[in-house]
Amino acid sequence: MGASDPVVSVEGVVKDFHAGFRLRRKRVLHGISFGVRKGEIFGFVGPNGAGKTTTLKVLMGLIGASAGRATILGCDVRDASVRRHVGFLPENPYFYDYLTGREILCFYARLSGVPRAHRDARVEELLGWVGLEQAAGARLRTYSKGMLQRIGIAQALVHDPQVVFLDEPMSGLDPIGRMEIRELILRLRSEGKTVFMNTHILPDVEMVCDRVAIIVNGRIRHEGAVDSFLGEGEPEADLVLAAVPAEVSMQLEQGFGAVLRGHGDRLEVRVREKHVQDVLAASLEAGAQVVSVTPPQMSLESIFLHAVEERD
Ligand SMILES: Nc1ncnc2c1ncn2[C@@H]1O[C@H](COP(=O)(O)OP(=O)(O)OP(=O)(O)O)[C@@H](O)[C@H]1O
Ligand SMILES: [Mg+2]
Repeated sequence: MGASDPVVSVEGVVKDFHAGFRLRRKRVLHGISFGVRKGEIFGFVGPNGAGKTTTLKVLMGLIGASAGRATILGCDVRDASVRRHVGFLPENPYFYDYLTGREILCFYARLSGVPRAHRDARVEELLGWVGLEQAAGARLRTYSKGMLQRIGIAQALVHDPQVVFLDEPMSGLDPIGRMEIRELILRLRSEGKTVFMNTHILPDVEMVCDRVAIIVNGRIRHEGAVDSFLGEGEPEADLVLAAVPAEVSMQLEQGFGAVLRGHGDRLEVRVREKHVQDVLAASLEAGAQVVSVTPPQMSLESIFLHAVEERD
C-alpha cells in the first residue's frame, strides 16, 4: 500500500437482503463507491434508513456484500487479519452492564489479544484518555449515555487500531456529551488515526469532519471536502430590523439585493454575507434598530436536504 492509497476503499458495493415469505429481494446498497484517506475524519452522512449501518457492517466483515469490493488498509474486508488494525463502536453497543468500566475494558483487551503484561496499564491509560478514571469502579448500568459512549470509544481503542469506525457516536447525547465525544474524535485524528463515522447530525459533521460522503436510499449523492461544501453557493445572513423607513427598505432591496419580509414594525432581511456591514450601516444611519443578526445559513444542510429530495 502506498502513502496516498485510501485507507478504506469501497468500490461498487451492492447489498441485497432477502426478506419475507417469498424471500423477495430488497436492494439496500446500489453499487456505492467512496474512499477514506489516511489521517482524516470521514463523515458518512445520510437520513435514517439510507444504508449507513449496512455499509459499516460490510466494512466490519459482519455481513457480506452481494457484489463489489471493499478494502481496509489494502486488505479485503473478508480477511479477518485486517481486524487487528480496526476499532469499532457499534450503533447500539451491547454492554454487560453488571461489569464496571474497568472490567469491561479488561474483558475487551483480553478478547483482542492485548498481552497480559500490558493489559492493566493499557486499561488505565484508556480510562484516563476518555476521562472516566473516577467512574472506573462503577457498574455500567449506573453510567449516563455520554459515559457509555465514552467507554464504548475506549473499547474500540484497546488494541491501538489504526482505523476507527464509529456508528452514530453522538446520537442521543446532550450538548455537553456531544462536545466531549467531538473532542475525543479530534484527539484521535491528532494521534494519527483515521476515523470513519456514520451520522446524521450535520453540525457535528461541520465541526469535526474533513470529508464527507452523503448517502441517500443506498446511493452516494456527494463526496468531497467539508470546506468545499461549505463554500458552495454564497453564504447568507438573516437580519431582523425595526422601524425601517420605507425609502431605506427600497435601498436594501435595490442596492444590496436583499429579500425582505415585513412583520408589523419588524422587517426580516435576508442578504448575502458580504453586504451585511453595509446593510446594517445604512439602516442604523436612517434611525432603524437592529433586533438580531443570525449567522450565515449552513450550506451542508441545504446540500443534504437537496440530496434527499433528488430523484433516484
Ligand atoms: N437484515 C436486514 N434485512 C432486511 N432489510 C434490512 C436489514 N438490515 C437493514 N435493512 C434495511 O436496509 C435499509 C438501510 O438500513 P441501515 O440500518 O443501513 O440504515 P442507516 O442509514 O444506518 O439508518 P439509521 O440512520 O436509522 O441508523 C433499511 O431500509 C433497513 O430496513
Ligand atoms: Mg444506522
